[in-house]
Amino acid sequence: MSDTVVGPLDALHQLCLADAVWAERYQGWTELGRGGSASVVRTFSHATGEDIALKVFHHLAPEDEQRFRQEVRSAQRLTSPYIVRTYGAFPRGRLAWIEMELVEGPDLRRELERRALGEAPLETASAFAIAAALTQALAAAHQAGVVHRDVKPGNVLLPASGQPIAKLGDFGLSRIAGSTRVTATGLLAGTPQFVAPEIIAGRPATPAADVYSLALTLYLVFSGNRSPYGIGPDASPAEWLRAHSDTRARPLRDHDPRVPAGMAQLVAEGLAKDPAARPTIAHFARELHAIASGASTSGGLALPGRASRRRVVALSTAALGVVAAAGAARLWVERGTPATVTAAPGTTAPTSTVPAPSFGAWLDDGLLTVSNAGHQGVADLRVVVHDEEGRAHVATAPGALAPGDEVSLALDAFSPALSAATRPRRVEIQPDGRPPQDAMLR
Ligand SMILES: Nc1ncnc2c1ncn2[C@@H]1O[C@H](COP(=O)(O)OP(=O)(O)OP(=O)(O)O)[C@@H](O)[C@H]1O
Ligand SMILES: [Mg+2]
Repeated sequence: MSDTVVGPLDALHQLCLADAVWAERYQGWTELGRGGSASVVRTFSHATGEDIALKVFHHLAPEDEQRFRQEVRSAQRLTSPYIVRTYGAFPRGRLAWIEMELVEGPDLRRELERRALGEAPLETASAFAIAAALTQALAAAHQAGVVHRDVKPGNVLLPASGQPIAKLGDFGLSRIAGSTRVTATGLLAGTPQFVAPEIIAGRPATPAADVYSLALTLYLVFSGNRSPYGIGPDASPAEWLRAHSDTRARPLRDHDPRVPAGMAQLVAEGLAKDPAARPTIAHFARELHAIASGASTSGGLALPGRASRRRVVALSTAALGVVAAAGAARLWVERGTPATVTAAPGTTAPTSTVPAPSFGAWLDDGLLTVSNAGHQGVADLRVVVHDEEGRAHVATAPGALAPGDEVSLALDAFSPALSAATRPRRVEIQPDGRPPQDAMLR
């Protein structure tokens, strides 16, 4: 990468260059952005042999070091394709930085601003795909017991490759002091424009607070960057805090009547002042899936996920096409809690309560999509489809499958005897030669 530094070295850069660990690990410094508490820098890592991003904090007080390590450890556990990977933490006295995956592309805040300034607004399909990606990211985090605390467009990165369409970054970082913001009411972890009312009231951040900030972010995505509270980003922190606490959100469809009614309703529920009245992220994901599917079948919306899978059908049988993490408009399997297993559409198999499987499956136009909801990296995935007569047909999904990834297989790739009209009785998944487990078929 280029070693050029534009302009004079600033104090932070000089501090970093003087650090022995820094000098040993990295080469180059190109600032990508600067937030309230830190600068984000692109550099070359000698350890990984590639360019990475570093979030370098402007100041870390000694008493914050433990929290810094803790928050980074939680973020490191998250491996969803919709979450910016956190590699490591380096608290070095006053200096502290985090190594992260480098995402080439704009952040959602800039993208929404650019589009609001006269460019074409986001297409509905892209808006839904971003919504699905962020919902998946938060669902993965909440399942792992991690609350984000600062969901906002500035923390959503949009990879230039479009694969996936969006990634959520900065997990837990708002808790690291130095990133707390001084507001009219005191110190606040999070960003005034996106913080949930209960946080303002001094209550701890829970998953419901993330749902509020997600709903607000999606409000901007679907409204063309318009605020639900009639105030702009230049409003004072105090005005924002008052609005979150007291002002009723304007219906999303006032800004754009083309937004599907279900989506407007879901966002409104996410913006409930009372955290107990908000949907959980799993509920949000299920509703979003239903709304997006409805919008796509009504002809108004070509979801990227659907389009990709259709393409796979066209490539079809010998090739066994793969759509790993393909924009993911299709969700959802809940993990870790007992779940209801329902029969395939059109069959009458009894409904029973069993421990939730780690894989989900759904069928669409003769294409079976399997999602890995919880397995830590699967190198070899065997999929068994049991047809109406109880015969078993086997196919192997090529490529590794990380948690959150999806793979789509054409049914006729299992056997020429199967077609789009087949209603499988059961789908079993066998990861890496382990015993097969039933996938939840939706
Ligand atoms: N992993 C990354 N890869 C590439 N660019 C990044 C990465 N993380 C952040 N950036 C860029 O750096 C900018 C600044 O990020 P930073 O998190 O410091 O600021 P912010 O999110 O705007 O504010 P804050 O986090 O302080 O609330 C981001 O808006 C984004 O454009
Ligand atoms: Mg940020």
